[in-house]
Amino acid sequence: MHLTREEEGMLAGEQGHATRKAMQILVALGKIYDADRMVRVSSVQVSGVSYKNLGDAGLEYLSELAKDGRARVKTTLNPAGMSLTDWKSQGINGGFAEKQLKVIEAYRKLGVEISCTCTPYLAGNEPGFGQHIAWGESSAVVYANSVIGARTNREGGPSALAASLAGRTPLYGLHIQENRVPTVAVDVETQLEQPEDFAAMGYFVGRAVKDGIPLFRGVARATLEDLKTISAALASSGGVAMFHLEGLTPEAALGARSLEALTFTKKELTETKSMLNDEGTPDFISVGCPHCSLAELAMLARLLSGRRVKREFWICCSREVKRQGDEAGYSSLIEGSGAKFALDTCMVVAPVEELGYKVVATNSAKACHYLRNAGLKVRFMPLEECVTEATRSS
Ligand code: F3S
Repeated sequence: MHLTREEEGMLAGEQGHATRKAMQILVALGKIYDADRMVRVSSVQVSGVSYKNLGDAGLEYLSELAKDGRARVKTTLNPAGMSLTDWKSQGINGGFAEKQLKVIEAYRKLGVEISCTCTPYLAGNEPGFGQHIAWGESSAVVYANSVIGARTNREGGPSALAASLAGRTPLYGLHIQENRVPTVAVDVETQLEQPEDFAAMGYFVGRAVKDGIPLFRGVARATLEDLKTISAALASSGGVAMFHLEGLTPEAALGARSLEALTFTKKELTETKSMLNDEGTPDFISVGCPHCSLAELAMLARLLSGRRVKREFWICCSREVKRQGDEAGYSSLIEGSGAKFALDTCMVVAPVEELGYKVVATNSAKACHYLRNAGLKVRFMPLEECVTEATRSS
């Protein structure tokens, strides 16, 4: 792998301990994937923030890097395991909170923006078409590649942070145009009427294509919320890092060649939705995986206005989108119902299973996937039904 003179120096420790560590990770990755050289990145999204996933070893690693490491490009952060300000009302114990706040402090010292959201593209980290970036949140990776046309591999927490500290990443995979062409077509032969239909389709297709690049054909329109949720679903049931929607996403024309095709009909849609539903009455309801958009807050405000929630109801979103919701008057209507904003965190990375809940209702296929892995039962339903469930007496 060719390194520039500056990169050789970084690897030799001329720019400090953290930069050296970062370059070691990036060079090792480059060798594994046969990269010819590094490419500069303009934006990084770091995952691996919840103390639930990092543990003490992760906290120690970050604290060590924070002694002399600094982000070289715009770097934002994934959700943490709790609200950074309201963790007590979320039922989080003090021991967990103390460690989580130390993790955040280490990231702050590293020059990472404490954005704590998985939708950085709705909160000020908005790369442009064709830009090389290194993002480490799988749903955001799919969104960035597919919808924005920026270029990123599916980074893990350490490799994303390394890219931030070194300002570059090895040039391989989805940074190279020829690797961005679709590998399989999906003929969509049913109406997709709401984001949850896109989520179910993403979940079905992710399982079928694993780490392939699907090209969806026959979808006439898609909202930001549809694209956000399909991105998350594709990346959770499979290892998808990019998709194309014919006629809608910016690089879909790269697919002008004959491909093996799957079909997605009403039957697959119905079966996938039913597969994402366990038995049981929800005792916890949460929406916003990925974190809510302003349009979702508008819908929630309309649905919750004048109603009272009867069970724990979390609305996960970034502080930036919440701020926009405050200005638009949505937040007061939502909070007036007793629903809670879960800022900085989400129902998956917070230790919900330790808070005593058993059955979670959500409109996210991705959340269903991970909550089941954590031992909880799940009910997959549209956002409107989540509100009905939350406001119904059990
Ligand atoms: Fe975001 Fe949490 Fe879902 S990080 S994509 S809301 S699992």
